[in-house]
Amino acid sequence: MEQLKIAITKGRLLEDSIALFERAGYDCEALKKPGRRLIHPIGGSPFAGVLAKAPDVITYVEHGVCAMGIVGRDTIMEHSHDFYEVLDLGFGRCRFALAAPKDKDFYAGYETKRIASKYPRVAHDYFLSKGMDVSVIKIEGSVELAPLLGLADAIVDIVETGSTLKANGLEIVEEVCSLSARLIVNTAAMKLYRDEILDFIEKCRGAMT
Ligand code: PRP
Repeated sequence: MEQLKIAITKGRLLEDSIALFERAGYDCEALKKPGRRLIHPIGGSPFAGVLAKAPDVITYVEHGVCAMGIVGRDTIMEHSHDFYEVLDLGFGRCRFALAAPKDKDFYAGYETKRIASKYPRVAHDYFLSKGMDVSVIKIEGSVELAPLLGLADAIVDIVETGSTLKANGLEIVEEVCSLSARLIVNTAAMKLYRDEILDFIEKCRGAMT
């Protein structure tokens, strides 16, 4: 059988993913010292871990080159989801929030509001659900800058501790939804490698704290 692969989001989710796999009884020594190498075996499992950026985790799983993936619900909401979302892993907890400068009333006035976000689809859908017409501006990172520089009236972004908002004079206007890391599975792989995948899911489920 070819080596099965699980794409894991690099950055904040990687450490918690490794901790979960270790509690599930897998050997993650290689994943813990990745260097510049991007694919590492997960000892005791039929899987190799593939280190990828969050949107790419979804791309690799949707195309079936990775049977499974670990990615934040934020990325799933922003992109298509042609895969099974099988498990809320319980880590990477944060929320999507609408935030604006502390000293301003976001809803005051009648002009179309400008919303900056790394997640334009999430921002658009949120205001659509409120029946409010807004102009959404895509920003790639440090989105808190957009209202500070006068490009936007507010942001829709991830809030974890709230310290980035606070440090930049912004505050939450409304919470949009809560978020956490999810285990996703390619639909064809679920049929082809059902036993291997279900065994892995069950071991992870049992190891969740
Ligand atoms: C995320 C998010 C906020 C910050 C929230 O950005 O976009 O800026 O973290 O975390 P906090 O509530 O704990 O302060 P990230 O650090 O991923 O960097 P980026 O903005 O450059 O994408």
